[in-house]
Amino acid sequence: MTQTTSADAPAGLTTTRAPFIEQARADGRLYIEQPYELYTAANHDVWRRLYARMAERWQRYGNARFLQGLETLQLDPERVPRLEDVNRFMAPLTGFRAKAVSGYVPAYLFFDCLRQREFPTTITIRDGEVLDYLPEPDIFHDIAGHVPMHVDRAFADTLVRFGECARAAADRAAAIDDPGDRLRRLRSVITGMARFFWFTIEFGLMKNPGSGELRAYGSGLLSSYGELAHCIESPDVQRVPFQLEWVINQSFEIDHYQPLLFVIDSFEHLFGEVDRLVDWVTAGRLDHVAPGEPAIGEADLQSFLDAAGVA
Ligand SMILES: [Fe+2]
Repeated sequence: MTQTTSADAPAGLTTTRAPFIEQARADGRLYIEQPYELYTAANHDVWRRLYARMAERWQRYGNARFLQGLETLQLDPERVPRLEDVNRFMAPLTGFRAKAVSGYVPAYLFFDCLRQREFPTTITIRDGEVLDYLPEPDIFHDIAGHVPMHVDRAFADTLVRFGECARAAADRAAAIDDPGDRLRRLRSVITGMARFFWFTIEFGLMKNPGSGELRAYGSGLLSSYGELAHCIESPDVQRVPFQLEWVINQSFEIDHYQPLLFVIDSFEHLFGEVDRLVDWVTAGRLDHVAPGEPAIGEADLQSFLDAAGVA
């Protein structure tokens, strides 16, 4: 018996099997256009299904500023968004723009894009058979999960400050003469920064103003149907007030629901914490964070060394 699977259908811009993306990578092109005509009917249908089932959960569990951002962006529930449409709404408000990329952006370059108010954005969309979980980002995670917050001024400024933190980390590395010592400390700083980013921008919880109820603002939560309810409702999750000392020393794993989440009071609060992070990086307080996840890849390390102007 022959079975028709989605693997037989034209891939269009489906995660991990998009010929356009493979070609861009083969050519060494990281920053690309969004070839909108390549999205197939199946790609649009996946967007429609993801959006439809998230809509009600966003209203229940998404923080107020995310919901305002969704309203402002006017994403089409039926079709994969065009980045130029998103940018038309977003850029006049905070200067942020979604910038299409062909794949993983090494850490320094990623943060430096934020500094320039550019958000590296995946343009592929997950396969319709795996709506729930995929380890790599797709356009639903990046546009529906991240970008609505980028129309908020305090949140946008926080991302820029994070980019400045990466610059501070590169400057600190440049000031250390011994190459071995420099590498050890830099690896530690990047680990601490990655943990901060994970527990805020990707998996952060925030108290809603007024009611004080917990709501999600992390994009990993806002783009996950299952975890968005779990992070708020489940008794199996520890939800603790944000503490910088803890966050930079706390390892995490990416392949299951998070058992520990940190709560901020507001995006102004978050901005203040990133500001402290920059001071801590400069003062060497991230040079010896607790070992553990995430592992820092060679490309990430190299991107910081390049920015530092050292070998
Ligand atoms: Fe993300």
